[in-house]
Amino acid sequence: MSAPAAVLAGLGGYVPPRTVTNEELSHRMDTSDAWIVQRTGIRQRHWADPGVATSDLAVEAGHRALKSVGALAPHDVGMVVVATTTPDQQCPSVAPDVASRLGLGTIAALDVAAGCSGFVYALATASAALVAGHAEWVLVIGAETFHPFLNPADRGTAVIFGDGAGAVVLRRGTADEAGAVLTVDLGSDGSLKDLVGIPGNGSRHRSAARPHHADERYLYMNGKEIFPHAVRRMAQSSSAALAQAGWSVDEVDHVVGHQANLRILHALAQHLGVDKERVVAHLDQVGNTSAASIPLALADAAAKGRFQLHDRLLLTAFGAGLTWGSAALTWPGTALA
Ligand code: ACO
Repeated sequence: MSAPAAVLAGLGGYVPPRTVTNEELSHRMDTSDAWIVQRTGIRQRHWADPGVATSDLAVEAGHRALKSVGALAPHDVGMVVVATTTPDQQCPSVAPDVASRLGLGTIAALDVAAGCSGFVYALATASAALVAGHAEWVLVIGAETFHPFLNPADRGTAVIFGDGAGAVVLRRGTADEAGAVLTVDLGSDGSLKDLVGIPGNGSRHRSAARPHHADERYLYMNGKEIFPHAVRRMAQSSSAALAQAGWSVDEVDHVVGHQANLRILHALAQHLGVDKERVVAHLDQVGNTSAASIPLALADAAAKGRFQLHDRLLLTAFGAGLTWGSAALTWPGTALA
């Protein structure tokens, strides 16, 4: 009898309709399409309309993922996990609202905050809940509305991030099934917390009882310093997840890395010894959507028919915290997304 495992059963992605091209940004700040494409690989991103928040994007993606499962009844879902760094408000968390608006009832619902690694952390949380028998089906969503947190005066972040949401439905199954999440590796290094973050509005600032500096409401990022950490940590974590799964790098069909920068994805591929053709890149269309980036990339690649039944996928992410995480899973082959 194979061990219990979370099995991928549904998938969906959603980006808000407004597209913001590099060209448009070059009229707003001192940048250019050529710089952005060459340094990041990003060609456009999506911005939510005024008044639209992360839960709105999460509900859309969640609805699509649930619909892709077909026969699933709303009351079958026992838990919703939303990974986000840009929740609608400080409190309450986003997930209960999302569960309620999706008609899922009074189920367990929680947010996971791990920056751009959030989706892999949420996947680990959901897998553990399924394996422990806390639920039979879990909806996992990565959702972000990042653009209101971008400082228009900081071209180092303003051109990078975008809004969007991606979701997967996991069911309780066994490790020998196609779609099984076989291993997850997670890690963090809080000593480097000051490299990326949104410092304003937390208890540190509130308790200091001093007015916010305007910039503290915005995301700051030391991209140059983060770059090598991102490559090194994703490579190490990927190797750990593969070793636990008993897979060699050569057996991996697709590497779905956090969509921060095409140069990071290519450097990661080089570190791992994977050719670039096996790296899934979707950031040219959506930019860095943080916790949404991996499920959005999965949904896009699945819609394009890139994955085949039993293909071996390596997911790997890196983000604020610093945090990182990787997962090894096989592809279920159903018409997901
Ligand atoms: N347009 C034009 N020029 C620019 C821009 C821009 N948008 N941004 C920076 N520049 C300039 C800089 O001012 C600098 O000019 P200088 O040489 O005259 O000083 C030059 O371009 C190079 O700047 P760098 O910061 O060194 O550029 P780099 O090649 O490192 O690219 C980037 C910046 C894209 C941010 C990259 O460092 C990166 O992707 N870092 C990793 C980001 C990441 O992985 N973050 C983790 C997740 S985030 C989260 O969890 C929320």
